[in-house]
Amino acid sequence: MTTTLAQMAVEVLTTADGRAKTALSREHAATWRASRDDGPAIPVGTAKPPMKPARPDRPELAHPRDVPRRKPGTPEGRIALLHAVAHIELNAVDLHWDIIARFSDVPLPMGFFDDWVSAAEDESKHFNLMADCLEAAGSHYGALPAHAGMWRAAEETADDLMARLAVVPMVLEARGLDVTPGMIEVFRRAKETAAVEALETIYAEEVSHVAYGSKWFNFLCGRTDQDPKVVFHDLVRKHFHGVLKPPFNEEKRADAGLPPDFYWPLTEDV
Ligand SMILES: [Fe+2]
Ligand SMILES: [Fe+2]
Repeated sequence: MTTTLAQMAVEVLTTADGRAKTALSREHAATWRASRDDGPAIPVGTAKPPMKPARPDRPELAHPRDVPRRKPGTPEGRIALLHAVAHIELNAVDLHWDIIARFSDVPLPMGFFDDWVSAAEDESKHFNLMADCLEAAGSHYGALPAHAGMWRAAEETADDLMARLAVVPMVLEARGLDVTPGMIEVFRRAKETAAVEALETIYAEEVSHVAYGSKWFNFLCGRTDQDPKVVFHDLVRKHFHGVLKPPFNEEKRADAGLPPDFYWPLTEDV
């Protein structure tokens, strides 16, 4: 049976259960990598991903104002924090497979697909790390309501690869670099070392996802001879609702190829 990378992506997207989704994601990532290393490479192919990925019945999806507040000074607050991160990570697994399938008809170097498969594999590990921490704390993913609006950025940018790169890795995942150190501190103060280690792994690996975003965004701008900074500002203003909020992690953003003149101007409404 011939399969394609785009079909593999759709299989992950249409798997509902979190642990099952991440297991299939890791398996497909390993299969893809082996085919790239040893050949013959699995063809990218084309496929039509679902508009929304399959998700488990729980967590119940709620408006952010109805999601429990994260009071980090309490064990319940820390569970809520881990639950929110688990939800972000599961969403990220789908986002990376979605970019592969949805834009599979755009001619791109194979390295584009290698990067997003690798990012999807990282997110799968991140979801499992968070789910493990929740279970060790006597909870589980699905026990609390979760943010309903997570897939909105994908829907907003479903027709435009450059907009997807600008909003998802270069705005949303970059935001993760800004807030994760504070989160690590919360768990360090509570002496919850497994969560500290898990979040440190996430923090270290997220830099590369932002870097893949800026790399391919710059690549596509270069292909059409456009100024990346100007295009970035236009696309974020069009597709991302709200302004960017400092403080920024300027060091990690720089590691990921995001210079200050990309994000500072977006802290103000125009
Ligand atoms: Fe992640
Ligand atoms: Fe990520």
